[in-house]
Amino acid sequence: MNRTQLIRLLFAAVLLGPALAARAQDNSAPARAKLILHADQARDTISRNIYGQFSEHLGHCIYEGLWVGEGSPIPNTRGLRNDVVGALKKIRVPVLRWPGGCFADEYHWKDGIGPRTDRPSMINTHWGGVTENNHFGTHEFFELCDQLGCQPYICGNLGSGTVQEMQQWVEYMTSSGISPMTDIRKKNGREQPWKLQFFGVGNENWGCGGNMTPEFYADQYRRYATYVRNFGDSRIFKIACGPNGADYKWTEVLMREVGPRMNGLALHYYCGTGRKSRSATMFDEGDWFFQLKNALHMEELVSKHSEIMDKFDAAKRIALVVDEWGAWHQVEPGSNPGFLYQQNTLRDALVAAVTLNIFNNHAARVKMANIAQMVNVLQSMVLTDQEKMVLTPTYHVFEMYTVHHDAKLLPMDLETSDYVSGSDKIPAVSASASRDTAGKIHVTLCNLNPSAPAEVACELQGAKVQKLAGRVLTALAINTHNTFAAPQNVQPAEFSAVKATETGFAATLPAKSVVVIEGE
Ligand code: AHR
Repeated sequence: MNRTQLIRLLFAAVLLGPALAARAQDNSAPARAKLILHADQARDTISRNIYGQFSEHLGHCIYEGLWVGEGSPIPNTRGLRNDVVGALKKIRVPVLRWPGGCFADEYHWKDGIGPRTDRPSMINTHWGGVTENNHFGTHEFFELCDQLGCQPYICGNLGSGTVQEMQQWVEYMTSSGISPMTDIRKKNGREQPWKLQFFGVGNENWGCGGNMTPEFYADQYRRYATYVRNFGDSRIFKIACGPNGADYKWTEVLMREVGPRMNGLALHYYCGTGRKSRSATMFDEGDWFFQLKNALHMEELVSKHSEIMDKFDAAKRIALVVDEWGAWHQVEPGSNPGFLYQQNTLRDALVAAVTLNIFNNHAARVKMANIAQMVNVLQSMVLTDQEKMVLTPTYHVFEMYTVHHDAKLLPMDLETSDYVSGSDKIPAVSASASRDTAGKIHVTLCNLNPSAPAEVACELQGAKVQKLAGRVLTALAINTHNTFAAPQNVQPAEFSAVKATETGFAATLPAKSVVVIEGE
C-alpha cells in the first residue's frame, strides 16, 4: 500500500467508521446494560406530582369521557362516570390540570357556575368549533378532584381575560371572607372555600395564549400574578407559562425578569415520529425508533432548561413543571380532527416510561408534570365510547410507576449498548430507581429494542436486597393496543427473569418492554 492509499484508508475509517460501526451493530443480539445504584446517596424526593394529568375542554376529554351529567344512563356519581373515575383512582392521580390548554385562554369562568340550565353556551373555537354548554365548570371540576382524591391545578385566562376576572376567580375559589365573590359561591351551594394550591398564569402565551414575546409575557405575568392573592392561609403556587420545547430564550427572559415572582415555570413538549406516517397504530420499526428518539429528547430539554434556571435559582426553589407532554399522532380515521382522539399502543407505553424515568432522574428540578391528556385526547390513560371504556398501555405504565410517588430518588450510573437504526442510534435501556418509605427499592427499566432482550446487571451500593419481584409490560408487536373488543392485549404480567447476584441483581428484559423490579 502506498502513501496515498494509506491516507485514503485512514480518511475512510475516520469518516465512515461510526456509520459502519452502527450498521455492524446487530439489533438481534441482546443489549447489555450496567447499572450502578447509589442507594447510599439518596437525597431528592420524586414528587408524586410528576405523575399528574391534564384535562381540557377538548373533544371527548371532559364531555362523555369524564362528565356525562346526572341524568345519563351511564352509571355516574354527581354526573361523573363511575368507571372512568374508578380506573383513574387506581393510578393515584396526584394532581389534575384544567380547563386547558389553549381553551384556558378563552375560558370565562363565570360562564361555568350557577344552575346548569342558566349557563351560557359558547363556541369552542380552538377545538373543533363545537358548542360548549359550560355544564362542567368550577364546581364540577372540584367535585372531580374530590372523587379522584387529587389536587386541583387551575390554569387562568391571561390571553383574553382581564386581571379582574383572574383575581375574582381565585377569590371565588379560595376566600372564606365576606365578599361578592364568596357570596356567589355560597349561593351556588359551596359554603367553604376549596383548597387550591396550583394556579397557572396563562397557557402557551407564546402561541395560542396570545402570541406574545417573552418580554411582553413577563410584563403581563408580573401584572396578573400580582392579583393572584393568598386568602386566609391559602398559599398559591404560581406557575408561569414556560417555553415551547427548545425555546431557551423564553426561559432565560422569564427567569431574569420574573423568576422571584413565580413558583414554577411550565415547559411543553410533544413528541411525534418526525416522519410522514404519523398514525398511532399503523407504523413500522423506523417510526418506532424515531418516536422513542424524540421522546428521549426530553432529557436534553429538561437538562438545558434546568441549567438556565440554575443560573438564576441555584437553590432550585422554582419548579420546572412539564405540564403538557406526550405522544402526538394523527387522529383516528373518521374522528373529528379538532378532537385529537388517538389510539395508544405499546410504543406509547415506552414513550411514557422513558419520559417518566427522565423526570424521576431530574426530581430536584422537575416537581410536577402533566401528561396530555387524561381521557380520549392525545396520549390518554383511558378511551371511552358511549358506555364502554378501555385502559391504554400508557395507563398501565402510570400504574406500574406508582411505586415512585414521593419515594427517594436513587442516583445511578447507567452504561448501555445502543439500539441502532441505519446510521442513527439511541440507548437501548432507560432506567430510574427509588426507595420508598417502607425501605423497598424499585427500579423501572425499559428495553427500547423491539428485536432482542436486554441483559441488565445492577450493582447496588449501600443497600442489600433479599427478596426480588417484578412486573413487565410488553406485547407481541410494536403496535399492539387495547380495543373495546380486546381490552387486554397489553397489560402487566408477573416478571420472573430477575435474580439476586453478589452485588445486586441481574435481569433479562424482554424485547420492547417496561419492567418494574422491587427489592426488599
Ligand atoms: O393538549 C393539546 C393542546 O396542545 C393544548 O391545548 C395546548 O396547550 C397545546 O398546544
